[in-house]
Amino acid sequence: MPEHFDVAVLGGGPGGYAAALYGAAAGLNIALVEEARVGGTCLHRGCIPAKELLQTAEVLRTVRGAKEFGVDAGQPTVDLATSLARKQTVVDRLTKGLESLLKGRKVTVVPGTGTVVDAAAHHVRVSDGTELTGDALILATGSAPRSIPGFDFDGERVLSSDHVLEMAQVPGRTAIIGGGAIGCEFASYLADVGSEVTVLEALPSILPGVDPQVAEVVARSFKKRRITVETGITITGYDRGDALTVHAQRGEETRDLEVDAIVVSVGRRPRSENIGLEGSGVEVNDRGFVVVDDHMRTAVPGVYAVGDLVPTPALAHVGFAEAIVAITTIVGEAAVPIDYDRVPWGIYCHPEVAFSGLTEQAAIDRGYDVETSVHRFMGNSRAILIGETDGMVKIVADRGSGVILGVHIAGPWATELIGEGYLAVNWEATASDLGALIHPHPTLGELFGESALALTGRSLHG
Ligand code: NAI
Repeated sequence: MPEHFDVAVLGGGPGGYAAALYGAAAGLNIALVEEARVGGTCLHRGCIPAKELLQTAEVLRTVRGAKEFGVDAGQPTVDLATSLARKQTVVDRLTKGLESLLKGRKVTVVPGTGTVVDAAAHHVRVSDGTELTGDALILATGSAPRSIPGFDFDGERVLSSDHVLEMAQVPGRTAIIGGGAIGCEFASYLADVGSEVTVLEALPSILPGVDPQVAEVVARSFKKRRITVETGITITGYDRGDALTVHAQRGEETRDLEVDAIVVSVGRRPRSENIGLEGSGVEVNDRGFVVVDDHMRTAVPGVYAVGDLVPTPALAHVGFAEAIVAITTIVGEAAVPIDYDRVPWGIYCHPEVAFSGLTEQAAIDRGYDVETSVHRFMGNSRAILIGETDGMVKIVADRGSGVILGVHIAGPWATELIGEGYLAVNWEATASDLGALIHPHPTLGELFGESALALTGRSLHG
């Protein structure tokens, strides 16, 4: 007889573990099936390890710039082994914390690979032979790096994000295929620790989807730091010799680029295969994502899906939010569907990028009479104090009502500053609401207040 739970969760990443924690907090008896350690891509192969390595790069930049502050720290060098060890310590500490939270809430963690045996019966079989059923089943098996034809990952010279996070030596020259979130974070990191980096992006600019004025701040910084960015380029293949020669094409022009490593960061694919979904009644779209409604319900009653497995932004915090919606629905309360247009994004390259809400173009496309306000960090006292003046805060607002439709930031601590931007966008605040708020002085966040005030027609310093 399968062991029965209120909810069986398949996959222990941010979507799955959040469902388990929140479900347990709501009084549900939860089984969480996980084939590795809990934490998923974010904790073991994504956000957390990547941000640790980017922090190494940040420390390096700070030490390199220390002389300007009268601090002579000599010529810094990087010992990647120490950085990787620290990364592992951070990951282990957070994993242990998560494990003890799950234990504290009496979640039954079942180690092994789970497969759906009968979706309608919410029946899961685990590789160790355990059989589980739940009143509800939540699918949260996540995603894996995607490659392009001819660029199979070998883990040595053709690398996915997983491999870069374990890399013990900095390649002399690196080609990064794909200039999205992962491509730009790795370009920034690898260039800072000494690699000669070329980003090869198919579209006309890096960071597609990001407001172009914000993406331009990153492009300019990359140029200053000698990161080559080639856009509008089609990769046709590569040859292996002592070096790797990447072949690319831009219109009629052929480009050959000699490098020591290739990083492929062209997106991620959902892990919906081999988990028993074929013929289960759970609908999977042509790109492999599990189809859900705005309450995270699949086509099979009582079966939910959350996180990177569903076609919504592949972000840990979106997985958390989707888990809350699923559990709230399971317990029969009214769940507020997620407004995906307003989800806050954070990209941790240098300079950082963060945004929430519509870009200027997206707002125009939706028929708004758009008004924008751009304030640059070069005029902000804290930015000058810390010596980080690259970047800007851009507010996109509806001219008639003053409602803030989008906030877009590039610059120091943008990923922290976006909290206020998200609050404004999500609560449909107006520019005068925001302009009336006091921002401590001197702070980076003052730029946000200045941008809002400028939209009211009476700025202070702007
Ligand atoms: P992405 O979708 O953000 O970017 C992929 C890039 O590769 C795009 O710019 C695309 O135009 C380009 N591309 C695709 N095929 C190409 C080809 N054949 N040649 C050249 N360029 C090509 O995907 P990425 O960066 O791999 O990240 C995956 C997901 O992980 C993101 O969607 C994001 O949700 C998440 N992520 C978020 C981060 C954050 O918020 N800090 C950091 C890292 C990842």
